Amino acid sequence: MTRLSDHYGFEISTADPVAAKAFDDGAQSFVAWRADAIGHLNKAIEADPNFPLPRILKAWILHSARTAKFNAAVDALLEEAAPAVADAPERERALADAVRIAHEGNLRAGVSLLETHVATHPTDILAHRLLQFELFWSGESIWMRDIVERAAPAWTETTPDFAQFQAVRAFSNEEAGEYQTAERCGRDSVDREPESAWGAHAVAHVLVMQGRIDDGVNWLENLCGNWERANQIAHHNWWHLCLFLLERGEHDRILELLDTRVRNPESPLVKAMPDATIDLQNVASLLKRLELRGIDVGGRWKTIANFCAERVTDHDNPFSSAHDAIALSAVGRHDLVDELAGNMRRVGIETGPLGNATRSLGAPLVEAMGAHGEGDHERVVNLLWPIRRELAQIGGSHAQRDLFFQVLVDSATRAGRDVQLSVLLQDISGIGFRRVTERTLYRDALARAA
Ligand SMILES: [Fe+2]
Repeated sequence: MTRLSDHYGFEISTADPVAAKAFDDGAQSFVAWRADAIGHLNKAIEADPNFPLPRILKAWILHSARTAKFNAAVDALLEEAAPAVADAPERERALADAVRIAHEGNLRAGVSLLETHVATHPTDILAHRLLQFELFWSGESIWMRDIVERAAPAWTETTPDFAQFQAVRAFSNEEAGEYQTAERCGRDSVDREPESAWGAHAVAHVLVMQGRIDDGVNWLENLCGNWERANQIAHHNWWHLCLFLLERGEHDRILELLDTRVRNPESPLVKAMPDATIDLQNVASLLKRLELRGIDVGGRWKTIANFCAERVTDHDNPFSSAHDAIALSAVGRHDLVDELAGNMRRVGIETGPLGNATRSLGAPLVEAMGAHGEGDHERVVNLLWPIRRELAQIGGSHAQRDLFFQVLVDSATRAGRDVQLSVLLQDISGIGFRRVTERTLYRDALARAA
């Protein structure tokens, strides 16, 4: 068998040009955050059932969806790929071993395998994309930045998918607080590839951290026409636009974008996957932020609450569980919030590092979100205060987790905890947010406490 090479120059374990082309299309789609990756990978599997790599990448994509709904599918894909993996090239074996270990709940061990691989193959953009996400969901921003910076000198403008590498580099630097490098690389990614939704996203993060509100609105409004082929990252980028609009007090526009862009039930993407984890997170996060500012969101909680109710036994992502709890609490299902927290404490004991974060951080966070919904602000502070500095370990970005700080600040002021309020505002600055006291919720909390 004469093995072929993929788009990135790596030997792949198929001699079938149709399978190789379909895998390339799927890999490039995945790397660029496009919506058609799985379709291409299915074609590759059909063309050469003994070619393990499309199954491995499909397993990675389903694993990355962060929902237990896909666990059986991930297990089946890895089992089907296993016999051929033994004789596959090093890269295929590394990708297979890493997803298996990560999917068992040890995200950092999965990353460590891929880290070794990219140390010798620093231009493997596929591996960079995958390990960035595992580190993102582990709260390991410095590690994320170190890997990408170690690889950067090996890249040139002509390396395939350089624009996508710049996007990865931008976001890792942003989360690590290196805003200049992040903005430079993110803008370069979009200059080279206007459809780069991940590059646009990284710069949006820089701008929100720095409190550059008008810059953020202009940046995203100028680019939003470029995301037609993007997957759910397009919804998340609209969510980012809403964060800036929130600071400008444009609440009606946010409500309209929620229905039409952030999660439009009539859009093909939402129809194909109405319970997509990232979409549920985006909606819950925005609705809660609006309510924290006293805005009536109408019946919009009902658009996601039923999906969240189905997830009280889904413990693939404690960050998402906290958003599920927010939605369930908003529709009065406090019984399900309690059930979710109880399940997280139990399941957390049985699984690896992800289980530790689920039990020790996720469960109290879920309880705190429920307590806020019930107006028990003393309990919110008592639950969140001891864990607030460890919350990064449940994953997500600084901008996303800011919601939990907004809830905590809201409760601290309502419970009259003025000393803790001033410490919290210092914490939020320490995370990397600039102009903290100018931000709507924090500014208003300070005014209330004065
Ligand atoms: Fe984001």
